[in-house]
Amino acid sequence: MILSMFVKVLPPEVRSKIAAGEVVEFPVDVIKELVENSLDAKATQISVEISKGGKRYIRVVDNGTGIHPDDIEKVILPGATSKISSEKDLYSINSYGFRGEALYAISAVSHLKIRSRYFQKDAGMELYASGGEIKHKKTIGLPVGTSVEVTNLFFNLPVRQKFLRKSDTEKRKIKRLILDYALTNPGVGFTFTSEGRKSLHLKPESPEERVEALFGTGFELIEAEKEQLRIKAFLRRNEIRSEIRVFINSRPVFNRSLKDFLRRVLGYKTLAVVFVEMPPFLLEQNVHPKKHEVRIIKEKKFFEILREALTGKSTTFADISFLSQEEPPYGESIEVVGQLMDTLIVARIGDFLYFFDQHLLSERLNYESLGEKRADVACKSALKKGETLSKSQMLELVQSWLNFNNPHVCPHGRPIYYKIHLKDILSKVDRSF
Ligand SMILES: Nc1ncnc2c1ncn2[C@@H]1O[C@H](COP(=O)(O)OP(=O)(O)O)[C@@H](O)[C@H]1O
Ligand SMILES: [Mg+2]
Repeated sequence: MILSMFVKVLPPEVRSKIAAGEVVEFPVDVIKELVENSLDAKATQISVEISKGGKRYIRVVDNGTGIHPDDIEKVILPGATSKISSEKDLYSINSYGFRGEALYAISAVSHLKIRSRYFQKDAGMELYASGGEIKHKKTIGLPVGTSVEVTNLFFNLPVRQKFLRKSDTEKRKIKRLILDYALTNPGVGFTFTSEGRKSLHLKPESPEERVEALFGTGFELIEAEKEQLRIKAFLRRNEIRSEIRVFINSRPVFNRSLKDFLRRVLGYKTLAVVFVEMPPFLLEQNVHPKKHEVRIIKEKKFFEILREALTGKSTTFADISFLSQEEPPYGESIEVVGQLMDTLIVARIGDFLYFFDQHLLSERLNYESLGEKRADVACKSALKKGETLSKSQMLELVQSWLNFNNPHVCPHGRPIYYKIHLKDILSKVDRSF
């Protein structure tokens, strides 16, 4: 295989380290890869056109750097990329692409036409492939940039084709995706056209202008920089419907616990667009073949910093980690609220509402009172789930809990309780603490 200066085929030992899997399952996956390629190529204008929800036709045109004519055939080879060349580069990814799989995967399941003019060349090249096989290649006249046309997606995979949704559903997913990229790349103009009708037309603009163009006006802006994190959040409170959009290093993030956390911190009626920039080594990006998920290394610390930045308050850890090594709340008043499902003891201690697992609490009590520490003995003689307790029994148990050597976990290491700050409960019904 002849290798040119830019696009390299990654050696197998690097490719095997890259999360494998289906890159392309739906038209939206194709659009995602093509738009990301355009953004990686530093385009400032990207237009997306589709027909039948992308099932019949997709075209993405950009004004980026273009593909070198010597590389045009190589871009559809598996593992062909200009973005990384060795394993260590995987830890400092700052491009969207790096797997060198997308055009290969797309070309294998469609009719693919790539037209591209490299920025230092006077003419462009056109490559046409069908089912992964190159059918023709020729020189053509063209402005600098790249246009990729994908026709009849999955023409050779009828089973896959059957899984596709109605055109309208596919179209909605595509539009949403483009809006996400438009939010993170305000300096790039985007247009979206479906069945010849243009439904999105965004000029390159500032981040503020872009958020307002997509969500309307009246945003509160919070900017913070802390411990290698740069946070920029646009908030609008008291909306009918809350929506939280998070982007880390310009990538939309679908991390459920992060979104739930933000909803708790910001309130349930807040529309928020949160951008976080952080060093790539704090992220594990190579988790999912479509790169939908990023894993945040030191997530707890990350949440803490986010909370501080967004609320100005430092963390109580109440709902992040109930296993933090804190002391039990000596000297606070205890009010037993009741028993839930004959399983949990609910008690208010100071400013917190505690949910104790009655079995684990009693198991710990036994364990700590035993001369010889035996978890199995402690467990056998402990209260079981399903036993109804009186208020005074519960109060006694909770009082003894305050004097445990380890009040946090049972002898087998399971957490004994969950606690939540009353403030967090009240804020959910829009009351202040
Ligand atoms: N729109 C584009 N503009 C410029 N170069 C492109 C474009 N699309 C693809 N390429 C080139 O083709 C290569 C392969 O693309 P792809 O299969 O998506 O892999 P990856 O993006 O992971 O490198 C890229 O590394 C890049 O060099
Ligand atoms: Mg790519």
